[in-house]
Amino acid sequence: MTHATLTLDPAFTIGTVDPRLFGSFVEHLGRCVYTGVYEPGHPTADEHGLRRDVLELVRELGVTVVRYPGGNFVSGYRWEDGVGPERPVRLDPAWKSIEPNAFGLGEFMIWTRRAGVQPMLAVNLGTRGVQEACDLLEYANHPGGTALSELRASHGAREPYGIRIWCLGNEMDGPWQTGHKTAHEYGRLAAETARAMRMIDPDLELVACGSSGAGMPTFGAWEATVLEEAYDQVDYISLHAYYEPLNGDLETFLASGAMMEAYIEDAIATCDHVRAKLKRDKRIHLSFDEWNVWYMSRHQADPPTEWRHAPRLLEDHYNVLDAVVVGSLLIALLRHADRVKMACLAQLVNVIAPIVTEPGGRAWRQTIFHPFAQASRYGRGTVLRVEPNAPYAGDVPALHATAVLAEDGTLTLFAVNRSLTDALELHATVRAFGEPRILEHSVLSDPDLEARNTADDPDRVRPRPVGTSAIGDGTLHAMLPPASWNVIRLATR
Ligand code: AHR
Repeated sequence: MTHATLTLDPAFTIGTVDPRLFGSFVEHLGRCVYTGVYEPGHPTADEHGLRRDVLELVRELGVTVVRYPGGNFVSGYRWEDGVGPERPVRLDPAWKSIEPNAFGLGEFMIWTRRAGVQPMLAVNLGTRGVQEACDLLEYANHPGGTALSELRASHGAREPYGIRIWCLGNEMDGPWQTGHKTAHEYGRLAAETARAMRMIDPDLELVACGSSGAGMPTFGAWEATVLEEAYDQVDYISLHAYYEPLNGDLETFLASGAMMEAYIEDAIATCDHVRAKLKRDKRIHLSFDEWNVWYMSRHQADPPTEWRHAPRLLEDHYNVLDAVVVGSLLIALLRHADRVKMACLAQLVNVIAPIVTEPGGRAWRQTIFHPFAQASRYGRGTVLRVEPNAPYAGDVPALHATAVLAEDGTLTLFAVNRSLTDALELHATVRAFGEPRILEHSVLSDPDLEARNTADDPDRVRPRPVGTSAIGDGTLHAMLPPASWNVIRLATR
């Protein structure tokens, strides 16, 4: 048993959480759309083919914004294929798949309303450019009286969709991307596209592509060049990161949250450097619009070999440790809520996802569903500055933590014990809140770190309340098991 301490004080704050920090991502990839969110003929499907069992889980997950339709997919996508009565079947080279286009923008917009989420739409800046982005925007947002807005009306949507958040392409620094570009080429295209889109609809929030990950050889230089071209036209720069245990090194895997924090801080430094250089008042915010645990090296060893419709791609089955790491990644995002305004757990269903479905059958929650749902439910309000003192687990302190004070006075401490071997006895000073009461301490941990949820045992891994925490003399005392995700809620009024 080792000890850790921290202080919670409402005088020390980081910022207000933008609810869009709890976003997710639906890409035309594998079974995310087909047999995931959309499956006509499924026993729970509605009149549009949307699976109601999945919709119910999405609402329970607490997702606020959903990015669509890619991902790598968008860099070769023709949006016109997915609207109206004619739906051409196409090849999708990004995922070596057959795309029937049965699901497109109209179906996605109906789905977002039923799911209660805000749409975030990506335009194709790989094989297409300014004109096609403007056409899509006019189709989506112009009220009426033009060819494209009347086309939307003729497709059954008289009211404009009013889509506010737009991603200017996807991972354009990646050589795997159709239409991959240099930073200079992309920066110019992003600026031109943004300028033209704002002429059609000035009320947009625009996201420029940052690097595909902190490990990209041009990370930093890419962001600087893109922003020097497009600073005045965009509001956000994107970050993407996926984590996995490499060579069985679980200790380093548990430190993923620290790597994510370093990545965020580097990106902020670059944005602020460009701001100073250009002498601008406006700050660029971050959209961490792809993040998760992804066993990528496993999938890279097994790429698709034939053109198939809705193949089983990137279907990771998450275990206890993956959920603890996802919890730590959520803590990392909350700890930077002043600059990270949007983030998308990639992805939502079947493909590296919190929700799994059987074609024609059941849907259930993966282990990673739980930390996300708890963070979304309790992580709304003001993030407090929390600086734990703890012994080291490998290269990082064993305790990773943040706290959010809600408007109703509920204070939630999110804490991950990153030690694989030692429980942590936490002593948190809460004196600044007077005499708070413990509402709940729930823990997700398990002696079997590889335990998973399945269709037959869907609740094998979930957070469970513990009754061992106590408050006395202005200090919260709690026991955090090894490799655990903890949510401790206190009533401060
Ligand atoms: O989320 C899976 C893929 O990861 C996305 O299509 C791409 O943007 C990223 O490389």
